[in-house]
Formats: sequence, structure tokens, C-alpha cells
Amino acid sequence: MSPKTGLALALVAALGLGVFWWLSAPQPLTATDIPQHQPDVANGERLYHAAGCISCHQPSPDLANVEKTVPAGGAPFHTPAGTLYPINLTPDPDTGIGKWSDLDFLNAVQRGISPEGRHLIPALPYTSYVHMKPGDVLDILAYLKTLPPVVSPERPAEIMLQPLVRRGVGLWKQVAFDTSPWKPDPSQSESWNRGSYLVNGPGHCAECHTPRNAFMGLDTSQAFAGGPHPEGKGRVPSLVGLIERGRYKDAADLASALQYGEVMGYDKLSSGGMGQVQTNISKLPEDDIKAIGAYLASLKP
Ligand code: HEC
Ligand code: HEC
Repeated sequence: MSPKTGLALALVAALGLGVFWWLSAPQPLTATDIPQHQPDVANGERLYHAAGCISCHQPSPDLANVEKTVPAGGAPFHTPAGTLYPINLTPDPDTGIGKWSDLDFLNAVQRGISPEGRHLIPALPYTSYVHMKPGDVLDILAYLKTLPPVVSPERPAEIMLQPLVRRGVGLWKQVAFDTSPWKPDPSQSESWNRGSYLVNGPGHCAECHTPRNAFMGLDTSQAFAGGPHPEGKGRVPSLVGLIERGRYKDAADLASALQYGEVMGYDKLSSGGMGQVQTNISKLPEDDIKAIGAYLASLKP
């Protein structure tokens, strides 16, 4: 290679890297994006269950005296990219979210950006949480701050080429991250709309039940049609036409399945992470569970 060609190639590479760096830069929310909000702890507890935070932020096995229902973090969460250890969500000031500001929390949960300005891996389903009302997310933070603090230091993620992968997430966000807020459908009932919100926002049901397109974004043309399990093992069933296919008698029966699961003989809600989801849903008020049933029952082929 002549020195000239070498120089030209180096310039092209530098330019490519520059464009990559520029396109993949985090775009966090700023103080003006935070709504005026009076925190409501009871609403926060409800949304915390709807969002299933505990499913992933379980206490590490070495925290032997911490109950499994406390989101002390540190338990391994396996993804095709490597193993992550979702953080301590209790209000311990040094190892938990005790010192997090509203803005830190909204950026992490709704934009996938850490307080240090790193992109978060979308294993944290911010791709669904982004559709939530910001006030509901702030209520979850208010609820978390009422929990007894547990000391549980952050465990480093085991991902190859981590800085590069995180920047890559920035590029991915450019093509596959839809930040539009959830919108009600005025032609539907209040209960249906509540169900739609819970399923598509906090519930993040689509993250498992909707297949993905070539960019690893949700393929909304096949919403809730089922597909390969995102963690890489097995398949997730379709939620379309559950009544028509005779899986459940009607919307009320479907709601009972979500409320009681396996103990009442509903045997298709226990494996592949669904057991955790069902346990979380069972903690919601009955109206919310019925609303989810009504919305799911309306998904027609
Ligand atoms: C499906 C699994 C899953 C669920 C559900 C989940 N998380 Fe996480 N969370 C993760 C993973 C994995 C990470 C680590 C991401 C990373 O390091 O890129 C994480 C990281 C975080 C972080 C830390 C970001 C940082 O700066 O390190 C916060 C805050 C957080 N989650 C809050 C929540 C809250 C609040 C909920 C419920 C509303 C929730 N998570 C639900 C998997 C999950
Ligand atoms: C972590 C991935 C995951 C998430 C998130 C998830 N599901 Fe599931 N779901 C599954 C799997 C896997 C099954 C099949 C379980 C089995 O056969 O034991 C399933 C089964 C179901 C079924 C039974 C389907 C049938 O054919 O009878 C319903 C209903 C359901 N899910 C609703 C929901 C709702 C509502 C949400 C959101 C609140 C949700 N799921 C979120 C993975 C998930």
C-alpha cells in the first residue's frame, strides 16, 4: 500500500468513527421535560407491579437474608449479548437509588440512559416504558424510596466489547426506538383503554409477545403474534384471537387466568418468565386485571 492510500484509508476510518460517535451519542431528557408532579406512592406501588420491576431486579443469591420480593438487585440476567446484573432499586444512598433525581430516573427508565450518560442495554424494557405517563414513572420512584434500604453494590456486566456495544445501542435507537407516548382510542371504553395502557406501557407484554424485525425492533405489523423468546430459548405464544381459538371462554375468563394462573388450572402462564409476570399482575386491583383481559380479548386476527 502506498503512503497516500494508507493516509486515505486512515482518513475514511476516522471519518466513519466520527459519524458513528456522532450518530450514537445519548440524547437525554433535560430538566424542562420533567412534568410538574405531586408524587402518589400508592399509584407508584401499583405501577411497580404492573411494570414487573422485581422480575429482573431480584436480590443476588449472596444476599441470603433479603427476601425475594425486595428489588435489591444483583441476580444474574442472561441475554444473548452476555450477563447483566440489574441494579439495586432500594433507596440505599450509596448502592441503590437513594440519591437518584427524578431526571436520572426518567432518563434510565424511559430513554435507556444511565446517570453517567451511558446507553443502557434494552434488556431493561425502556422501549415499552417510554410509552408510560412520566408521572406514573415518577410515582414508581416515590414508591421505591419508601422501601427499606438494602446494601447491594452494583455488579459489573459481563458483555464483550462493552463500550462499543453500548455505543452501538445508540445507533440502534436511531432506527428502532419509538419514543411516542401512549394514546387512548376514544372509540373504545375506559376499561379497554386502561388495559391498552397497562399492556403497551408498563406491562411491556409486546417485548416477549411481538416478533422482531430485521433491526431487532418490534414488528408492529404483527403485534402480539408471538415468536421466538427474546432470551433465546423456546417460543412465546400468540395473544391474538385467544377467545376465538377457544383458549379462554371470554374476557372475564382470560382475566381470571391472569389473576390466578396455574393454581386455578390455567396451565399456559407459568414458564418462560410468564409465571413472574402473572404473579406481578395478580397484585393489581381487580379493575386493572379485568381491563387487561378486555384489551387482550379484543386482539383479533
Ligand atoms: C426484563 C428485565 C427488566 C425489567 C422488567 C426491569 N429492568 Fe431495570 N434493568 C434491567 C437490566 C438488564 C438492567 C441493566 C442494563 C444495562 O446495564 O445496560 C437494568 C437497569 C436498570 C436501572 C439502572 C440503570 C443504570 O444506570 O445502571 C434502573 C434505574 C432500572 N433498571 C429501573 C427499573 C425499574 C424502575 C423497573 C420497573 C419499572 C425495571 N428496571 C424493570 C432489567 C430489567
Ligand atoms: C418474559 C417474557 C414475557 C412477558 C414480558 C410476557 N409474557 Fe405472556 N407469556 C410468555 C410465555 C413464554 C408464555 C407461555 C407460558 C407457558 O406456556 O407456560 C406466555 C403466555 C401468556 C398467556 C397465555 C397464552 C395462551 O395461549 O393461553 C397470556 C394470556 C399472556 N402470556 C399474557 C401476557 C401479558 C398480558 C403480558 C404483559 C403484562 C405478558 N404476557 C408478558 C412470555 C412473556
